[in-house]
Amino acid sequence: MAEKKISLMDTVRDASKGVISGIDKKDVEHWVEIYFLGKAYQVPAGLTIMQALEYAGYRLIRSCGCRAGFCGACSTVFRRKGEYKLQTAMACQTRVEDGMYLVQIPFSPAEKPLYDIEKEKYEASVLLKYFPEVARCVSCNTCTKACPQDLQVMDYVQAALKGDYKQVAELSFECIQCGLCAIRCPAEIVQYHVAQFGRRMYGKYGIPREENTEKRVKEIKNGEFNKKFEEIMSLSEEELRSVYTEQQNTREVY
Ligand code: SF4
Ligand code: SF4
Ligand code: FES
Repeated sequence: MAEKKISLMDTVRDASKGVISGIDKKDVEHWVEIYFLGKAYQVPAGLTIMQALEYAGYRLIRSCGCRAGFCGACSTVFRRKGEYKLQTAMACQTRVEDGMYLVQIPFSPAEKPLYDIEKEKYEASVLLKYFPEVARCVSCNTCTKACPQDLQVMDYVQAALKGDYKQVAELSFECIQCGLCAIRCPAEIVQYHVAQFGRRMYGKYGIPREENTEKRVKEIKNGEFNKKFEEIMSLSEEELRSVYTEQQNTREVY
């Protein structure tokens, strides 16, 4: 029988399976009721929103990526029963609560201007050329409240307005591009694209080039590692695995 190919995503999905498929109803002491797409589901308390949706029978193909709070794919909007406030969260990082009305936002539609920073000058005005909408910020702080990473989003938008690339880069460094700030912004600013532009400009022009990196890039360009690359590319999957394991054990760079 042909061997079944296991993709990386299968492996990641399986890592979470133990949590949801291993649950025996009779062992569950506490249940909560959540609403997803308007339908009520009883799920064990303590699961993350993502696990609860899978427990309820949904197979998440969109709105699901790393399952660890890094990729920004599992943006969720919810409202608790009896509360007026609309909340935002990452489904893989937030536990279900009784009476949550949930909706997943797998993608936030956003315009992104085309630019080539190689051709730009390191000047404050460049940011406004591509993102004039930052001038519309009304300092309402809604973006900061919406950010599941607890970033000071409004502050980096204000820094962007001043063309302070360093501050934009530093304040937005942990942005996971989930889009939750942008969907709440009354000025319709796409904060995470502004931030990415700021980080790119700062990375390209604002910080000194790192000598060792420059040296290594030159070595790669000169083909000094071609032989090694070819060797690796010619290995079978099994050989690759063994090289990888060996490398992990010895901590040597192959
Ligand atoms: S939500 Fe929009 S308008 Fe409000 S502070 Fe953030 S960027 Fe400014
Ligand atoms: S800044 Fe916006 S896109 Fe980035 S993590 Fe926070 S809410 Fe998500
Ligand atoms: S799945 Fe990647 S952040 Fe939640």
